[in-house]
Amino acid sequence: MVSYPGAQEYLPETREVPALAAAARACRGCDLYKAADRTVFGAGPESARMLLVGEQPGDQEDRAGEPFVGPAGYLLDKALEQAGVDRGSVYVTNAVKHFRFDRSANGKRRIHKKPSGGQIAACRPWLLAELEAIRPEVVVCLGASAAQALLGNGFRLTEHRGEVLRLPAEIRGGHDPSVVVTIHPSAVLRARSDRDDALRSLVGDLRRAARSGQ
Ligand code: URA
Ligand code: SF4
Repeated sequence: MVSYPGAQEYLPETREVPALAAAARACRGCDLYKAADRTVFGAGPESARMLLVGEQPGDQEDRAGEPFVGPAGYLLDKALEQAGVDRGSVYVTNAVKHFRFDRSANGKRRIHKKPSGGQIAACRPWLLAELEAIRPEVVVCLGASAAQALLGNGFRLTEHRGEVLRLPAEIRGGHDPSVVVTIHPSAVLRARSDRDDALRSLVGDLRRAARSGQ
């Protein structure tokens, strides 16, 4: 695994989202800032009870500078609505703050490429700082990259999805939210014949997550 210097040295002292987001614009903690257009930091109210973690911004998020505004975001909105969770009341972020992609053969399209373990580890200080800033009651990991960032490399999503878990002690920082891991909204989009089932199970996990924080 390639190891990167990581984001730590770019972090400001304060744990307020606007200051963190501003500092993250200058992050060079791994190589992903080079090809992406912008840093996509988390968004949502600092009073949020639920914090959702995706993988990384996609093509549209990179253009807009906001998380989950493309097709996966549309699906996430729908799932949250069905779960009875107001999207405006949650904080949404990603394990990695820059878009990783390959160019299509003709160079026109930017195709999502999964971030490496080294990149996820490099970007983790931003995610932990967001957890400290928001202090949510429940954290939802959307997919394996988010789970890897918070629960470690050995975590198996298929074995534990939908369970109410806790953060490992070393990253709790005096704060102990419940954690629910579920599938990424893109996995619902990819599920063809059984898309309704996939959406239903995402909605069920979000509902359980909302209840677990009460
Ligand atoms: N997928 C993610 O994981 N995050 C986004 O912000 C968009 C798509
Ligand atoms: Fe920094 Fe994260 Fe971007 Fe890497 S992906 S440069 S660690 S903000």
